[in-house]
Amino acid sequence: MARSFNKSISMSNQQINKSTDKLFRVKWRSPSNIAIIKYWGKHGRQIPVNPSISLTLKKSFTELELNVFEKNKAKNEIEFQFLFNGLRNEKFEQRIAAYLLSVKEDLPFLGDFRFEIQSENSFPHSSGIASSASSMSALALSLVSFAESLGMHMPSNESQFASYLSRLASGSASRSVFGGWSIWGKLKQIEESTDEYAINLPFAIHPCFQTLQDLVLITSSTPKKVSSSEGHYKMNSHSFSEARKFQAIDHANKLIPVLQDGDFESFAQIAESEALSLHALMLSSEPGYFLVNGRTLQIIDEIRNFREETGIRLCFTLDAGPNVHLLYPLEEKEQIMLFLQEELLGLCEGGRWLDDGAGDGPIQLID
Ligand code: DP6
Repeated sequence: MARSFNKSISMSNQQINKSTDKLFRVKWRSPSNIAIIKYWGKHGRQIPVNPSISLTLKKSFTELELNVFEKNKAKNEIEFQFLFNGLRNEKFEQRIAAYLLSVKEDLPFLGDFRFEIQSENSFPHSSGIASSASSMSALALSLVSFAESLGMHMPSNESQFASYLSRLASGSASRSVFGGWSIWGKLKQIEESTDEYAINLPFAIHPCFQTLQDLVLITSSTPKKVSSSEGHYKMNSHSFSEARKFQAIDHANKLIPVLQDGDFESFAQIAESEALSLHALMLSSEPGYFLVNGRTLQIIDEIRNFREETGIRLCFTLDAGPNVHLLYPLEEKEQIMLFLQEELLGLCEGGRWLDDGAGDGPIQLID
């Protein structure tokens, strides 16, 4: 696409338009997800180096409303306005502008209408919850709803197309289109898996993992020094990139029977190895960097000691940030809450934590 960014995108300064030229309105609630097998490294048009497997969450979600208006079709530029929590946000606006431009061939109608997008998250920004996964999947779902209303021919079924469009905005967002457990990226063992979009894991998940809980322990809400996107690109020239690919595939192959059998001990080994490997890859990049802090490491220590002393089923994972996701089966909730009060709260920044767990996936709120 040779056209310059400014010429083909126009971001309106007006307040949300209440005029009657509104053609379409839709609202989606889409949740975030937590990866157990981490997507880390990509090439080409958001093609992952390795498959990733995640659990879609319940309480951490974005609600995004898309309003579509008439516009002068002769001007084929993409016109939109984006409000986050009711306010303009230049950084998000530019990301959406670049995204819409990048999917113009997939959604040829983008130049024919004017779009107003309003987005809100149920969780605080920089809380360790991946807001790009929830917000970008909510945007993709809304665009697919509009495409459907126009009778546009979809290259695959609607949720696959929404996952494909989500992936092009943010890789992890591709997995949020589905409830429960999803895989994005080709894994030979799962025939239907593909790099193009995510799918639900095509087998019955053990009840212990169907209702898995995720307690997010916030150790810092300071914005990250290195974004996930930069982290992915650093993997292209990483000395361990080949080894990492094999490790992720090996972990994914091992996780599949574990999710079916309910073997929490093996689950904990895989999840923790993935989390620590992700951060080890950051440390061993050129130049190396780290996103964890002292509290992150202390919490990890506490979790492992508590597991050893009590035999209670819990483990941790980390995203590309310093906050710890404590994972445990629902049946352990009472014990985990006591552990939180007694040992972990003091290690959280301002005593902040979020209570989340397995969710059923996106829902359409207005159609
Ligand atoms: C560590 O999906 O945020 O959370 O595709 O550049 O938007 P982009 O990256 P993003 O990366 C997520 C990385 C991760 C692991 C994961 O969710 O699989």
